[in-house]
Amino acid sequence: MFYLPDEVFVNGERFKTYISKETLDKRIAEIGQEINRDFVDKRPILIGILNGSFIFLADLMRHISIPCEVDFIKLSSYGDEKVSSGKVTERKELDANVEGRHIILVEDIVDTGLSLSYMVKKMKEKHPLSVTIITLLHKFEATKYDIDIDYVGFPIKNEFVLGYGLDYAQEGRNLAQIYVLDPEN
Ligand code: PRP
Repeated sequence: MFYLPDEVFVNGERFKTYISKETLDKRIAEIGQEINRDFVDKRPILIGILNGSFIFLADLMRHISIPCEVDFIKLSSYGDEKVSSGKVTERKELDANVEGRHIILVEDIVDTGLSLSYMVKKMKEKHPLSVTIITLLHKFEATKYDIDIDYVGFPIKNEFVLGYGLDYAQEGRNLAQIYVLDPEN
């Protein structure tokens, strides 16, 4: 049984449902179909940016029916706060050799764009054939870095969201849909 309350308290703050599991499932299936079409015969390597992306990546990959691979890199820019520290810390390196490969970077959320701009630069130094970006959520009004996002699940307002891999001080990643901080609490 999935963890799907209508509202939830995390670290004493109230969050309410924002994007339902049903809506997430439908959109992720669509993105999977687009990948199947756009990467046929390309054997892409999906690179999940930990921790936040692990649930989205796992669900997305199960909609991909062409040959593909997966690896992970771990970055952190938020610490336990609700706003970015402005500095990317690398906590786990990539294992795969991506030279000459089609890379698909998979993010749970793009906020300022700092993490992805760091990742794109780092990946391009490894001489891949292409670098594609997928994010489940895009806080488009908050993005300050110039990055081309190829597939966006849901553009969202500048609000603090939680669940489906996204945390608040490491809590809430296990929620099966996306929640938003309720400003009235
Ligand atoms: C979050 C999220 C993205 C990044 C987005 O990661 O998963 O990687 O922040 O913000 P940005 O566009 O401003 O860089 P976080 O640093 O919180 O680590 P986590 O994935 O382990 O939660």
